[in-house]
Amino acid sequence: MIKKILLALVVLLVIAQLVRPTKNNSGDVQKDITTLYPMSDSVKLIVAKACADCHSNNTNYPWYASIQPLAYWIGDHVKDGKRHFNFNDFAGYRIAKQNHKLEEVIEQVKEGEMPLYSYTLIHKEARLTDTEKTMLMDWAQGIRDSIKANYPADSLVMKKPTAPKK
Ligand code: HEC
Repeated sequence: MIKKILLALVVLLVIAQLVRPTKNNSGDVQKDITTLYPMSDSVKLIVAKACADCHSNNTNYPWYASIQPLAYWIGDHVKDGKRHFNFNDFAGYRIAKQNHKLEEVIEQVKEGEMPLYSYTLIHKEARLTDTEKTMLMDWAQGIRDSIKANYPADSLVMKKPTAPKK
């Protein structure tokens, strides 16, 4: 019985390898955040090593990301991450959303929610030092300050349908 179950599992795993989710590699940066706001090279490095795999249009896939069920799980993180926030699509967001997402960046980094723990477990280079976290948060706050100085307060209010569910 156990042998049959194991065999069935192996067969399922083999079949699962045939499912190949599309990869996030369009590399489209036409609406990148840097087309609107400057980003220092050091912040670029932090974003590249700790955030870009899930929040850009170009994921760097490790070899094991082609193996199911990991491929599915990783693909899901990328899809979900990008849907919430994408550095490469940022310039297409309304100003209120830009402001709100940058606030989220600060919050997520401060609370240690981002980068995802399952990611830093393997990608050790993505474990940010306190200095790196501060650099990233200061950069985001700097943009929020300039947005606040340049737009009327009511344009920064998040409208009902897109308001965060918290
Ligand atoms: C392994 C993938 C992954 C990495 C790496 C990652 N994120 Fe995320 N991120 C997600 C996922 C998935 C979500 C959506 C679900 C959630 O909030 O947990 C998300 C959500 C977010 C949100 C949106 C929160 C909201 O409610 O709008 C922000 C902002 C964010 N991440 C910032 C970052 C920053 C900044 C980094 C780098 C320091 C980073 N993330 C690294 C996967 C990732």
